[in-house]
Amino acid sequence: MSTKDVPRPPKKVGLAPNLNSGFYGQDIISVSQFTRESLDYIFGIAEEMRAIVKRAGSTDLLKGTVLACLFYEPSTRTSASFIAAMSRLGGTVIPITQGVQFSSVAKGESLPDTIRTLESYADMIVLRHPEVGASEIAARYARKPIINAGDGIGEHPTQALLDLFTIKEELGQIDGLAVAMVGDLKYGRTVHSLTRLLYSYDVELSFVSPEILRLPLDIMNEVRARNLPVRETYDVADVIEIADVLYVTRVQKERFSDLSQYEEVKGCYEITPELMERAKEKMIVMHPLPRVGEIHYAVDDDPRAAYFRQMENGMYIRMALLAAVLGKA
Ligand code: NCD
Repeated sequence: MSTKDVPRPPKKVGLAPNLNSGFYGQDIISVSQFTRESLDYIFGIAEEMRAIVKRAGSTDLLKGTVLACLFYEPSTRTSASFIAAMSRLGGTVIPITQGVQFSSVAKGESLPDTIRTLESYADMIVLRHPEVGASEIAARYARKPIINAGDGIGEHPTQALLDLFTIKEELGQIDGLAVAMVGDLKYGRTVHSLTRLLYSYDVELSFVSPEILRLPLDIMNEVRARNLPVRETYDVADVIEIADVLYVTRVQKERFSDLSQYEEVKGCYEITPELMERAKEKMIVMHPLPRVGEIHYAVDDDPRAAYFRQMENGMYIRMALLAAVLGKA
C-alpha cells in the first residue's frame, strides 16, 4: 500500500525531539532523537539484559504486555530478535512478519487502519515498511508507541543502536575511531542511521562505494556541517589499513528501478582473508546482514569478524528498548 494516499491524521502527536526526558511511551522513529546521554542509558540496560539472558534465560519484567510486529518487508534478524526480546522479557507478540499477504493488508487495508487495529490489542508496535517516513505517519495516528524497524531507504534506528553498542563493546570506546562504511551507501538505511548516530562522537568517517551508490548528498552535507574528518573513495584498499571499524553492507537489489545497474555493481566488494592481512590487529569487521558475497566465509574465523556478535547484541538492545518504552527499565 502507499502511505501517500491516506487522509490527514486525525490528531497530531509530537515526536519526542530527544529522549533524555525518558523513553516511557515514546515513539522511536529516528536516530536524531538520541543523545550521548540517552545512548549510554540504553547501552547500560542492554548490558544488564545480556547478564539476565546469560544467567537465567528470561525475566518476567514485561509479563502481561503485548507487542505487535508488523513487517511489510522481508526480515530475519530484526523480526526474530524483537520476538525473542519480548519473549525473554516475559511478554507476548502478535507476529505479522511472515508476509502481510496473510493479513488484511492484502485486502487493501490502509496503514493507519492496520495500526489502529493492532494498537487496540497491543501495547506497542514495531513497524517495517518500504516507504520513507511510514513510521512517522504511523506514529501520528497511533496512541501507542511505534518503533521504526526500517522505513524504506530512510532509517533503521534500532539497528544503528545495536551497531554502536557493538562498537563500544568490542573496542571499548567510540571517540577517536576511524569508521569506514563500505558498499551501498545510497540505499542502505543502516548506513544512514549509523552515520547520523555518529555525529555525537569524535570520529573520522570514510565512505567507500561505487559512484552510483554514494552517500546521499543531504547526509554528506550534514557530515560536513559537523566538521568531522571525512573521505570518499571507490577503493576499499584506501581504508583497510586505517579503519578501526569496517562496516560492510549489501547492495540493496530491491531498491533498484533498473536491474542492469544492480548487475553492474552487485559484486563490487569482497572482504577476503588476504585483504584482512592488511587491516589493523585491533579492528572489527561489521555487517548488518544478510550478506550476499561482500564478506568471504573464510573471514568468519578471524577474531576481528564481529558481525555474528553484532547480531546477537540486537536482542539485548531491543530488550532494553522494549523495557524502556514500556516504562519498566
Ligand atoms: C538490514 C535492513 O533491513 O536494512 N538488515 C537488517 O535489518 N539487519 C540490511 C539489509 O537488508 O541489507
